[in-house]
Amino acid sequence: MNEQFTVVANDSKEKNIDLARIQALFFPLMVLLIGLSNILVLYIGGKQAAEGIIEVGVIPEFLIYVNMLTWPVAVVGWVTNMVQQAAASQKRVNEFLDINPAIQNMVETDTPVTGNITFDHVNFVYEDTNIQALKDVSFTIEAGKTLAILGKTGSGKSTILELIGRLYDVTDGNIIVDDYPIKDLNLDRLRQAIGYVPQDAFLFSDTIGNNIAFGKKDASKDEIIEAAKNAVVHKNIIDFTKDYDTVLGERGITLSGGQKQRVSIARAIIKKPQILLFDDCLSAVDTETEEKILNNLKKVTENTTTIIVSHRVSSAKNADQIIVLDEGRVVENGNHDSLIKNNGYYAELYTNQMMEDDR
Ligand SMILES: Nc1ncnc2c1ncn2[C@@H]1O[C@H](COP(=O)(O)OP(=O)(O)O)[C@@H](O)[C@H]1O
Ligand SMILES: [Mg+2]
Repeated sequence: MNEQFTVVANDSKEKNIDLARIQALFFPLMVLLIGLSNILVLYIGGKQAAEGIIEVGVIPEFLIYVNMLTWPVAVVGWVTNMVQQAAASQKRVNEFLDINPAIQNMVETDTPVTGNITFDHVNFVYEDTNIQALKDVSFTIEAGKTLAILGKTGSGKSTILELIGRLYDVTDGNIIVDDYPIKDLNLDRLRQAIGYVPQDAFLFSDTIGNNIAFGKKDASKDEIIEAAKNAVVHKNIIDFTKDYDTVLGERGITLSGGQKQRVSIARAIIKKPQILLFDDCLSAVDTETEEKILNNLKKVTENTTTIIVSHRVSSAKNADQIIVLDEGRVVENGNHDSLIKNNGYYAELYTNQMMEDDR
């Protein structure tokens, strides 16, 4: 792999040096030839004028016309060069555009989504690394309920969310959404029904308002503000001099990790989806704000199936159902009280985190 890269990089370097050489030679040569031809015209024309064959005025006339022609002709060469470069680039772009997504929509009819989700003995292997991320995972969550998923890094939490959004298809087993296998749902409809907050919030170099409205094409200003209030980021936004018109990213200001996460949450809830997937998106938010957000969510997501991935018990304890993953397996499944009684990973995590909070 490394060697291959070195070979390709060296090849590209050599070619670029060659190109620079030719260009370094070509342009001075062109100017030189133009100069030489001018001198030639002057010399021969001068002689002829001296002999009385032509009038002196013919010489500048000729030079002016020839010079008017020289640059358009030179530019034709330059444009040809650019067209060739563009054609080569277009070929690469086309290669990329022609790739067919592995996940295809098989269903033309419209299939509304209510939000009941069942994992039935799901196994999942990432093809490129051969890592088995999920092993025999089964659980059910009814529409409108809240499920919390806890577990160490690498235990497969994000993978579960990605499978629900059908970014991948399961290797083995079934995912059932509202009585249908997930493959029998219209893919666009499924994804429209999902509000997904990824682990690393991605915001565009655009205004905060537009970043939130990305979740809903025709969102009004009021809807944007309502979503921001529910994500507890409205107060931060109005502190900026241009509030919702503040530009983010390269051309604008940088938000803190917690602010980014909350803008990203606002983007997900503005479209009032049937299914909300939160991938550890409260990690950079303090526990107090976290509680406020979760309380607001409860109000606006009464009929929304909500899955919250977290490594904090505080995000999970009020969920209707909690599952704990370890190395791709469901090791605990219940609610706060039953898992505390169970005295396993969850109970241990709870005790540890409560002690930390007391300190
Ligand atoms: N895109 C991917 N390609 C290959 N392997 C992956 C990919 N994403 C995650 N994995 C692997 O799958 C396992 C589960 O990952 P993940 O679901 O991201 O865990 P978690 O969200 O609990 O930290 C890990 O071993 C990880 O290395
Ligand atoms: Mg993850």
